[in-house]
Amino acid sequence: MASPLMKILTISGSLKATSFNTGLLRTLAHMAPEGVTVVEASIADIPMFNEDLEVAGLPASVATLKQQIAEADGVIISTPEYNFSYPGVLKNAIDWASRGPVRPFADKPVATISVSPGNFGGIRAQTDLRRLMHSIGAHVLPKPEIAIPQAKLKFDDDRRLTDEATRAMITTLIEKFSAFIRVHNSQASE
Ligand SMILES: Cc1cc2nc3c(=O)[nH]c(=O)nc-3n(C[C@H](O)[C@H](O)[C@H](O)COP(=O)(O)O)c2cc1C
Repeated sequence: MASPLMKILTISGSLKATSFNTGLLRTLAHMAPEGVTVVEASIADIPMFNEDLEVAGLPASVATLKQQIAEADGVIISTPEYNFSYPGVLKNAIDWASRGPVRPFADKPVATISVSPGNFGGIRAQTDLRRLMHSIGAHVLPKPEIAIPQAKLKFDDDRRLTDEATRAMITTLIEKFSAFIRVHNSQASE
């Protein structure tokens, strides 16, 4: 019997049109094997979190994001590093998704990546992001922990990941994350 389809949602922590992190996730989507569909979320229209807005009714952009997370078997987040941590826009989106009666990140398989033009690959941001995801009950893939440094050497002008060694790391991440999700789903259905 063919294995069931797996759906992965990607979230980039950057809103920039020429973002390396968004480019990485789009490259990853093209590298996904048969049977794995990759959907790209957008956090661009999510307003700044305000409990008054929450009481008035979830903004459509937040409701969409929460539904996309809930429907996904797993979520891959790629984050830039801003001043040694992840960007506020990403924290804001995750804060929204962590609230209310339906909390779709709880027990959700999540993999993290970081990309930076600098030498440390955004690892400090990714470490903070992993701690944040643990705090809201996500099931974070322990390894591989991919931090891509010197992005300008590894992406083309259209922000496609071209560096072969890094592409091999992404292939491994997709394989390991798919296996992680399968184990998670089989335990959930027991
Ligand atoms: C406010 C701000 C702070 C930054 N701080 C860091 C940093 O601490 N470490 C780092 O490696 N890059 C830092 N950068 C550079 C980003 O890594 C770079 O802009 C990168 O391209 C952002 O990722 P993106 O291309 O996906 O948007 C910073 C950029 C901004 C705008």
